[in-house]
Amino acid sequence: MSDLREKYISLIAEAADEAALEALRVQAVGKKGEVSLQMRSLGKMTPEERQVAGPALNALKDEINSALAAKKAALADAALDARLQTEWLDVTLPARPSRQGSIHPVSQVTEEVTAIFAELGFSVAEGPQIDSDWYNFDALNIPGHHPARAEMDTFYMARDEGDNRPPHVLRTHTSPVQIRTMEKQGAPIRIIAPGRVYRADYDQTHTPMFHQVEGLAIDKDISMANLKWTLEEFLRAFFEVDAVELRFRASHFPFTEPSAEVDIRCSWEGGTLKVGEGDDWLEILGSGMVHPKVLQAGGIDPDLWQGFAFGIGIDRIAMLKYGIPDLRAFFDSDLRWLRHYGFNALSQPNLHGGLS
Ligand code: DAH
Repeated sequence: MSDLREKYISLIAEAADEAALEALRVQAVGKKGEVSLQMRSLGKMTPEERQVAGPALNALKDEINSALAAKKAALADAALDARLQTEWLDVTLPARPSRQGSIHPVSQVTEEVTAIFAELGFSVAEGPQIDSDWYNFDALNIPGHHPARAEMDTFYMARDEGDNRPPHVLRTHTSPVQIRTMEKQGAPIRIIAPGRVYRADYDQTHTPMFHQVEGLAIDKDISMANLKWTLEEFLRAFFEVDAVELRFRASHFPFTEPSAEVDIRCSWEGGTLKVGEGDDWLEILGSGMVHPKVLQAGGIDPDLWQGFAFGIGIDRIAMLKYGIPDLRAFFDSDLRWLRHYGFNALSQPNLHGGLS
């Protein structure tokens, strides 16, 4: 019996894989295995012999079974180790750029704008796309009869029949976020608010949904000079040129006083736009000093605080920077267009690593 024990314990220890182990199990403790056959011979023994041999055989069977189980577990561990070795992955390696999918120019430009203004100390604020006409108009010093309401080709939301309150609107600009931010955080303020806006208009340079970024800085001693510097810094970084030249043109917006539209010096030589040189001027944004009535509407005391605001068309500056001719194509979801004008999903724009 001790021969059997030694034989199987060493065979089990040497078994190379699970199949070999199973063969050994059959050979030793299977129905017709050596240990089982010996157990069957117990019947022919004298009761005294049986009293010794019986427990010994049972113990041998148990021992072989546990040796089999232990070896099986060891083989499984080794197999797992081997597999883990082949499936090893260095997660610190840079990811490979995917050929699938890309970042839409609007998202890319929004990221770029956000990165630049973050560097200048502006945080990002948000507001709803469906807003009350108070936030979209009245609070911005655009009363009910004001022509700006008609000019903006506003989409009005339907009210239930018999509900005579003024309808909500799809916001026509990001300016209502100025009011919401004033209400929420009070002065001082330094925010930009990028997002979707809506107007009923459709041609090569207009789509019913487009994107703006609002800027708002409020403090005790903010002036037009701060506005000019901020916009110059922004445009220089955005168009990635050493110098930009801006032209402030007196204009009128109900929510700013004084108001200015800003043009940037550029050339169109050979059909491509170059910013910072040439004899042409391109209008790119509206701006001004926040009107006292607007501060008041936002709950800020205009005798203590003042500030500047601006509004830039995101799609517009995306078209300019990346030479995209037709705005409507932005929102057609044409895969060929997206592959051509889209950006690598894995490279985030920032000022140190490069914007675009
Ligand atoms: N809200 C204006 C528009 O959509 C753009 C604008 C002009 C925003 C002047 C401003 C500003 O904040 O000061 O046409």
